[in-house]
Amino acid sequence: MAAPDKRDPSTVGERTWAVHGGNDPHATTGPIRTPLVLANSYHLPEDASQVSWSAAGGLFYARNGHANQHVLEAKLAALDGGEASVVFATGVAALHALFFTHLRSGDHVVVSSVTYEAVWRLFAELLPRRYGIEASFVDVTDLDAVRGALRPTTRLLHVESIANPTTAVADVAALAEVAHGAGALLSVDSTFTPPPLYRPLADGADVVVHSLTKFINGHGDAMGGVVTGSRALLDQVRADALVDVGGVLSPFNAWLITRGSVTLPLRLRAQVASAQRIAEFLEQDPRVAFVAYPGLPSHPQHELARRQFTGGFGAVLTFALTGDSAAHTRFVNALKVITPAVSLGHDETLIVHAGPGTRGGDENYPEHFHRAGHLRLAVGLEDTDDLVDDLAAALDTA
Ligand SMILES: Cc1ncc(COP(=O)(O)O)c(C=O)c1O
Repeated sequence: MAAPDKRDPSTVGERTWAVHGGNDPHATTGPIRTPLVLANSYHLPEDASQVSWSAAGGLFYARNGHANQHVLEAKLAALDGGEASVVFATGVAALHALFFTHLRSGDHVVVSSVTYEAVWRLFAELLPRRYGIEASFVDVTDLDAVRGALRPTTRLLHVESIANPTTAVADVAALAEVAHGAGALLSVDSTFTPPPLYRPLADGADVVVHSLTKFINGHGDAMGGVVTGSRALLDQVRADALVDVGGVLSPFNAWLITRGSVTLPLRLRAQVASAQRIAEFLEQDPRVAFVAYPGLPSHPQHELARRQFTGGFGAVLTFALTGDSAAHTRFVNALKVITPAVSLGHDETLIVHAGPGTRGGDENYPEHFHRAGHLRLAVGLEDTDDLVDDLAAALDTA
């Protein structure tokens, strides 16, 4: 067996790579971690007359590439088992970059009927109206429905590993087979299941996208996004959607996310364990109308989730109370540890009450999501007992 080398991801475990991956100590000044390089321009070579201003990947202007970006990309590509990654200023910028690069006018896309809101709006409104890209929204847990939606012009099947917010689980291996049979790519937004919980590329997905804003940074202090896949596709994403559209991740945010991701495997282990206990606690309480969490045997895709997410079921769960919308508001306002905020994957536990009609495409959510809305709970790193006791006390108040 090859001796472990922190510079070679194939020789080390995921915790070692999370600490050391991509790190490129500055040869001249000697820090052991790549420093924050707050420069938008780099020294040109002596003869710069032949440098292409559209070139991607070199170090001469930060929109074309910068030191902290390259460190983070090297780390994330290996974490997801991909050949290459490109990072962007937000998760949505990363998603848009993939769609912008891969799709042409007249192409057709099959999209999960439940996705993060911006993806719904891109495919329901913006890309069809502005660029003539056609989209069909389909329940991707129904493989026959997916097959039925394919057209000769279908170029992409886009799903979320665990759908935001319903927690429906996509069968990535089966969907990859369906997509490839139609000559389309499968892209998976795996924001709810970052590595090491799951690596969609290993199950046949062509591209994986994450909002780095969530678990991978994990500290609620930066936004970012990443697209990972084959070098050929990512070279095109970099050249077209990064350099010439320009949604570059700032050096500071790249540095923050690189640092935040050091503890990703350890954080996820604690968050997944807490989420499981909280889901079980909520499910047994008669004042709770439903709990959607792939780790519960009652979840419709629990068996698939067990097979697929070998590292755990994630740390986001959705639930609702038996009371009306006002009871949900009282519940959220009674919480003393859990913070009301829209993000997820942070160190602190976050909750949001989404009323019916407030999310694009929410008519596609299951019927029980519509009664008084739903609560999305993104479990953080606090003591599990404190979180359970906070929820129990708020249930009494509501
Ligand atoms: C599944 C999923 N994908 C993408 C995004 C968008 O990420 P960002 O807010 O970093 O643009 C989100 C944000 O909540 C998300 O939940």
